[in-house]
Amino acid sequence: MNGVTVRVPAKLNLQLAVGPRRADGYHDLVTVFHAVSLFDEVTVVPARQDGVEASGEGANRVPAGRDNLALRAVAALRSAMPGGAAGLAGVHVTIFKRIPVAAGLAGGSADAAAALVACHELWGGGLSQAQLAEVAAKVGSDVAFALLGGTAVGRGRGERLTPALAPATPYHWVLAFADGYLSTPEVYAALDRLRAAEAGGPKSPKSPTGRARSGTAEPDLDAQLMSALRSGEARRVGRALSNDLQQAALSLFPPLRKTLAAGLELGALGALVSGSGPTCVFLAASAERALDLAVSLSAAGVCRSVARVTGPVPGAAVVHAAK
Ligand code: C5P
Repeated sequence: MNGVTVRVPAKLNLQLAVGPRRADGYHDLVTVFHAVSLFDEVTVVPARQDGVEASGEGANRVPAGRDNLALRAVAALRSAMPGGAAGLAGVHVTIFKRIPVAAGLAGGSADAAAALVACHELWGGGLSQAQLAEVAAKVGSDVAFALLGGTAVGRGRGERLTPALAPATPYHWVLAFADGYLSTPEVYAALDRLRAAEAGGPKSPKSPTGRARSGTAEPDLDAQLMSALRSGEARRVGRALSNDLQQAALSLFPPLRKTLAAGLELGALGALVSGSGPTCVFLAASAERALDLAVSLSAAGVCRSVARVTGPVPGAAVVHAAK
């Protein structure tokens, strides 16, 4: 049977600066994406019509049918292929999940990116990396980064990417998976509400540059984080982690405060909510420290489970193609 299998990583946001809500409902971002060694595997085989099934971590929450982002990616790629959609048969997509669903790790976007790469291979190629990235950006804000991997600055909705120049130092992270889920649109909506309340309050907090962090200012790339990444010093990177969605995620999921505090008490170099949450991320000084931290976090009972990962890792890549 012809089939292509692609492995694709989860992402963290080392910085997530969110601008005001745009007319189209999205928010302009400046973010530093970082791909880590927690991988989903996506296999596509030719079929009479498009279909999808999922197994593994949280698979019962993966949408079936047209709502599935991987199937939307297949449809978007089919109409973007050089010869047009005619003559390209259906595909059956099988997703093996290790990246938890609705966890702030862009698992759905990762599966969409993997489906793009797998179908592109299955259908004989023909698009450049830039063209594939264009298709990816239409499917979702984080899909283009899942193709690219590594560490990269994202602008716009997160889809305009520039790879970050940094030494190939591996960072050791501990992920604390929560007992629950957060919906990305709901977390953005909570941020808008928090900002509106703040703007209406007596004194709205100012950023160091004097501009209100109420979401009216355009977000800036954090020079300290970029300098820390260039130095490769985990301690400096840990101090510079930031996420504008964190307050909103904590307002919707208060137990995460305890998880973050526990990780810091246990010696993490930095701690933050991953993307829109509810996964919490901790940076450790070494592989050994990451193991200690993971064991202690588990024992503290402040999360559902933990995983140790390293980053950066490459984006979606073919691991098996049977012709
Ligand atoms: O692009 P994607 O489908 O991943 O986005 C999911 C939701 O997250 C959007 O519908 C929007 O509510 C929110 N979002 C946003 N601004 C972004 C990215 C996502 O408001 N830059």
